[in-house]
Amino acid sequence: MNRIGVLTSGGDAPGMNACIRAIVKTCAKNNVECIGIFEGYNGLVEGFLSPLTVESTKGIEKLGGTILKTARSEEFKTDQGRAKAFETIREYEIDALIVIGGDGSFKGAQALMHEFDLPVLGIPGTIDNDLYGTDYTLGFDTAVNNAMQAIDKIMDTAEAHNRLFLVEVMGRDSGHIALNSAVACGADVVFLPEVDGELKQFFALLKQRSKEPVAHALIAVVAEGDSEGNAFKIANRVRTLFPEFDTRVTVLGHTQRGGSPTQRDRVIGARWGVLAVESLLNKKYGYYTAFAKGKHILVSLDKAANHKYSMDKDLLHAVNILTE
Ligand code: F6P
Repeated sequence: MNRIGVLTSGGDAPGMNACIRAIVKTCAKNNVECIGIFEGYNGLVEGFLSPLTVESTKGIEKLGGTILKTARSEEFKTDQGRAKAFETIREYEIDALIVIGGDGSFKGAQALMHEFDLPVLGIPGTIDNDLYGTDYTLGFDTAVNNAMQAIDKIMDTAEAHNRLFLVEVMGRDSGHIALNSAVACGADVVFLPEVDGELKQFFALLKQRSKEPVAHALIAVVAEGDSEGNAFKIANRVRTLFPEFDTRVTVLGHTQRGGSPTQRDRVIGARWGVLAVESLLNKKYGYYTAFAKGKHILVSLDKAANHKYSMDKDLLHAVNILTE
């Protein structure tokens, strides 16, 4: 193996840069050239590639985002788009591809592996932490810390005014950020896409609180993908049914995805970068790096395609006790 390509795809995640740096260094130590592919699969379709060196990637561990940029490529989803992508791989004589991203990105890697027999390896990178087979995905720790710091601040002003705040956090289909930030901040209520019936419970709480002689602040953390709707929708219903509450909404949005990665994201990113390159050099293809039962392991990409992640049941139990 002489040349390994690397791309980041889907939503960027803090820790991707630490991972890229580790890939480049591991390649260099093994006399393998590392080629950076820019803008995810788009870069393969359009031919945006450039060699990455130990010098050009020095110091990137501490940077948020991804130096390779990222995209969600529609063209790559077509047969024609993937054929163009593989032509680029041939043209640049890339022997294997590392894809850092979430489940959509892994599907792309699988397609290249099955359709063109390309050796691929995935590295989980998404703030949502919603991949089967791994307890962790790069970016999650930084995103939860970002959310936690923002909610702590909102709590100060909520207390000062005795207001009800609905704070919306990211997680298109998953409640990991909501669950963990709610526990970390001692929120009163949490809305998760994986749980039903929360609105009824929330209204019951508001009914009870509205009878109390002294007003207090209330904080509800809402995952953006919750089935009851987003924070604005829930707030509108609250305003209609409980006008006595002074209700405010804050959507944390993309602030959660930015910033310098935490120690956890840098170190796991670096470990997975080394593991990914060494696996390819040992002819282990068609896997992704994962952290499960306290160990860094490889999981088959094909297995992941047929399974869904699960929530931490003990933490779900704890949140039931810790919220109102
Ligand atoms: O990367 C995952 C994620 O941040 C989700 O939590 C969120 O729903 C989505 O990406 C937002 O995507 P975009 O940046 O394309 O708006």
